[in-house]
Amino acid sequence: AAPLASAQKVEEFNYDEAKVGTYTLPDPLTSKDGKAVKTKSAWTSRRAELMELFAANVYGHTPKQPIKLRFQTTAVNESALNGLAVRKMVSIFFVDYPQIPSIDVALYLPKNKKLVPIFLGLNFSGNHSATTETDVPITTRWVYNAIGDVSVNNKATEKSRGMQVSSWQIETVLKRGYGLATVYYGDIEPDHPQGWQGHIRSVLDSPSETVPSASNNWGAIGAWAWGLSRIMDYLQTEPDIDPKRVVLIGHSRLGKAALWAGAQDDRFAAVISNESGEGGAALSRRWYGETVERINTSFPHWFNAQFKTYNKRVADLPIDQHELLALIAPRPLYVASAEEDRWSDPKGEFLGAAHTEPVYKLFGKTGLGTDTFPAVNQPIGQTVRYHIRTGKHDVTAYDWEQYLKFADELVGK
Ligand code: GCU
Repeated sequence: AAPLASAQKVEEFNYDEAKVGTYTLPDPLTSKDGKAVKTKSAWTSRRAELMELFAANVYGHTPKQPIKLRFQTTAVNESALNGLAVRKMVSIFFVDYPQIPSIDVALYLPKNKKLVPIFLGLNFSGNHSATTETDVPITTRWVYNAIGDVSVNNKATEKSRGMQVSSWQIETVLKRGYGLATVYYGDIEPDHPQGWQGHIRSVLDSPSETVPSASNNWGAIGAWAWGLSRIMDYLQTEPDIDPKRVVLIGHSRLGKAALWAGAQDDRFAAVISNESGEGGAALSRRWYGETVERINTSFPHWFNAQFKTYNKRVADLPIDQHELLALIAPRPLYVASAEEDRWSDPKGEFLGAAHTEPVYKLFGKTGLGTDTFPAVNQPIGQTVRYHIRTGKHDVTAYDWEQYLKFADELVGK
């Protein structure tokens, strides 16, 4: 569950399908100069154009400069999860920026297996929240002050251990032959407007973007996405992981980050967006649930400054979120919603996924293969999949069951 629900308090949102109104989506297969994109090679240029449009108008430009990393194993448990897994704790350090905190990876690998496929996902509350195992250290980094005593003065307490086990399902994932790597997202950047200070955005900028207030600078979502690629750099060095079968998963704001990371880094074999909503899989132009204005107001640090200029004119956005999803093509993509998570606009997420179809077709693939919104708990699709399950904003065992099946079928065992 999300640690922060303050955005729900505001009024400017619509939950009435009859009031959504009409809108015209930009066509992923029409380039800026008006030309129709009909071939894979034409898509390569159109894709680059879309990447630039998302960087310039939504997430900001991710710095491209190479960065020297050092990977340090801090602990190994050869018999984690009652002998099911080997668990390694690995810290990623930035050699030229010793002042930047490390990114601390908890990596679970099935025992005695070679070249395993793996899921990678950022977590909301610390690696210790994904497991009840007492030898996983409680994060010492800044965390949200949550309700109850799971955190005090922005520090996690022992009470938060295992708080999110149901959202990670580590044992099930391991038993199905996959590894799992997770990282606390606050290692990369703490989730508040000043969080960039002392973190990666304070040292890395795109050439033309020197201060965090520059209109096209990158935001926190950009930083989390960048961090996912650095974790990928590390995973590529692990001999027991198949580097070609790393499946990226993210929930909610971290689903937004996963999609942007998957768009930018094609080393991710597949991407799963769990209830990523506004700025993720949901169409911005659909007036339902969270809006561009609302998200930019509640979370001014997530996107770039240019995105805020669309607060009252979403129709002027040169892109919409189906085009972000299309940047994952031809790789497998899963978009998931929950019935009671109206804030994320389930229908808008479904339409985002459905409107990737022409791009998957260009690669000879069937995406969702349908325009019909499915009933609850009825997963649909081929290379692009979608479900809306019963229940609230969360990642559940039901969601994981679908993701494992999707990975079995499309990423291979
Ligand atoms: C808030 C925010 C959403 C976000 C969610 C979460 O509800 O408005 O955009 O997805 O938090 O991260 O759980």
